[in-house]
Amino acid sequence: MWKPSERLMDTIRHYASFPATGVSLRQMVQFGDRPSTGTLFRASQFLSEELPIRLAHRVQDLGDLPDGLSQMPSIKKVQDWYAQSFEEIIELPRPKLSQEVKERLLRPAKINGGHTKVLPGATQNPSIRQGQYRSSPLHNDGKHNGNGKAVAVRRYFVPSDEHGGWPPELNDYNQRFSKTLQHIKRRHDGVVTSVAQGILEWKRKRQRLQIDSTIQSFLDRFYMSRIGIRMMIGQHIALTEQSHIRHPNYVGIICTKTNVRDVALEAIDNARFVCEDHYGLFEAPKVQLICNDDLNFMYVPGHLAHMLFETLKNSLRAVVERYGVESEHFPVTKVIVAEGKEDITIKISDEGGGIPRSAIPLVWTYMYTTMEQTPSLDPSFDKSDFKAPMAGFGYGLPISRLYARYFGGDLKLISMEGYGTDVYLHLNRLSSSSEPLQ
Ligand SMILES: Nc1ncnc2c1ncn2[C@@H]1O[C@H](COP(=O)(O)OP(=O)(O)OP(=O)(O)O)[C@@H](O)[C@H]1O
Ligand SMILES: [Mg+2]
Repeated sequence: MWKPSERLMDTIRHYASFPATGVSLRQMVQFGDRPSTGTLFRASQFLSEELPIRLAHRVQDLGDLPDGLSQMPSIKKVQDWYAQSFEEIIELPRPKLSQEVKERLLRPAKINGGHTKVLPGATQNPSIRQGQYRSSPLHNDGKHNGNGKAVAVRRYFVPSDEHGGWPPELNDYNQRFSKTLQHIKRRHDGVVTSVAQGILEWKRKRQRLQIDSTIQSFLDRFYMSRIGIRMMIGQHIALTEQSHIRHPNYVGIICTKTNVRDVALEAIDNARFVCEDHYGLFEAPKVQLICNDDLNFMYVPGHLAHMLFETLKNSLRAVVERYGVESEHFPVTKVIVAEGKEDITIKISDEGGGIPRSAIPLVWTYMYTTMEQTPSLDPSFDKSDFKAPMAGFGYGLPISRLYARYFGGDLKLISMEGYGTDVYLHLNRLSSSSEPLQ
């Protein structure tokens, strides 16, 4: 089994003293859908610095977990995955470039011979307190590293001068870089399950019933960071392979015209299917969708599908359990989509009997579930990749809220005990807010 060397751990500590650079959805789209070899190379360079920084923070964070948690076998395993991926990126051989090519790469592209194409800065994420998901409260003010030295603030890629061709080494490097990222992405598929497993190991060993706020905020930070890393990797792979080119509304994995109704209908179908399967129902409770047919906005459809699927599963479960599987009629769950200038808001409204007020803070805690039996944790199973059973991990709501916040939205829940629950999913349309990571 692979183990990090002492030297590698030193390098990781060094990288972890630099802050991550957040990127907004808008910046990712403005980067363009058909980057040239030179532009893609700049993006590869940005990621080959940015990803190791983010991975290094996670290695440190996992190592700093309190109360013996960092020593649990599954946590150690995940920490090694991060260290190994870190090593693979920093050790990937870089091409030797002539001075001329280097200079050209640094020159910003001119659009129509006029303006220089520099991406605008990202704005503060409105749903998040400043520094809420930051790895260390002690440093990372964006200008200084841990040693108090000033560091240059790196910007998300600036597309480069496109006149004339590029040497083949650039394209080779881009291809190799993308292959490495694919490999890394696959390695980390099971991270959510493995970390959950690690926490179970620790709970058992230490006889703990609940996780405390240190672990809760570690998990928030850790999974938020994972969403960001996977977003960047997924986007970069898609842009390199140009596989999205067949779909005119896609820039990488971002859909500039995500149709809310289509995504919602699919999520409803999937949630009802899982519900029928789980309870052995002939027909799951109905869901009514109220949504303008052609309402669309810029988003990652997979993220939206995930959040709707998770909240709908919760609603359907509450409804079935309140009325009983033998019931002939279930009340309808309503999904109402509202379009504003700033936000698109989706309300999922059920009559599943609600949640007692004292349990509301708990629903945002990882591993809080009222399901009696937690489904077994199969390592090949990845909660965030939609192969979910009905319920039982206590991850559905907290992870969905991270997805919402990642692009400047939010997820809120209001309940009437004895009647039902309303979940509000706010999605930011302007999408200029930065990832909540710096
Ligand atoms: N619409 C709802 N009505 C009633 N209770 C709810 C509703 N949504 C969530 N809950 C309560 O909150 C708990 C946590 O929900 P969450 O989705 O995070 O985890 P889960 O559904 O138990 O497991 P999973 O991780 O598989 O989704 C649920 O177990 C349930 O008790
Ligand atoms: Mg759930």
